[in-house]
Amino acid sequence: MAIKRVNKYGDKILRKKTKQVDYKAIKKDLKSILKDMTNTMEAAGGIGLSANQMGLDLKLAIVRYRKSEDEFIDIIIINPEIVEQSGSTTNDEGCLSLPGLFAKTKRFTKVKVLALNEKGMPVEMIAEGLLARAFQHEIDHLNGILFIDKLPLLSKLKLKPVLRKMKKVWAKIDESSPDYKSPQISEADCEF
Ligand code: CO
Repeated sequence: MAIKRVNKYGDKILRKKTKQVDYKAIKKDLKSILKDMTNTMEAAGGIGLSANQMGLDLKLAIVRYRKSEDEFIDIIIINPEIVEQSGSTTNDEGCLSLPGLFAKTKRFTKVKVLALNEKGMPVEMIAEGLLARAFQHEIDHLNGILFIDKLPLLSKLKLKPVLRKMKKVWAKIDESSPDYKSPQISEADCEF
């Protein structure tokens, strides 16, 4: 059980398409991988984490779904794929790989996801709202895509200098360090 560093914007692994998981080959390590991912996600204060954010080239992600204030389930998606999508919704989105940065990001309202669960069983899930957004965000990660890629051109242009500046700040953030604290990034730094 360990907390790992979350890869940040600028780390090359985030831009690579992850490898399809061979469930049988990974089965014996899966429990400890998922434990590390959960601990890392919690330490960083996130509601989702993809394996490549933690440095693993695997098509695998966790999405935390909150049923109520103190009830949640962690949904494990292995080799996930969005097979149906509909509607459009724009809302604030952020990412542990770009801490402190939030931007209004357009997503499908509803998606149907096919994946394997942690037991290696095929599952089909229909999600709406925040969960649908989280699935799209994590599945994008597994394909080397970040939420900032989804922004309108004008926002992307305005974001450029912010990213250049923040990249240096983010590079120093290490969630696995014993003195890690949630980064104090001022809103002004991340405004664009
Ligand atoms: Co993310």
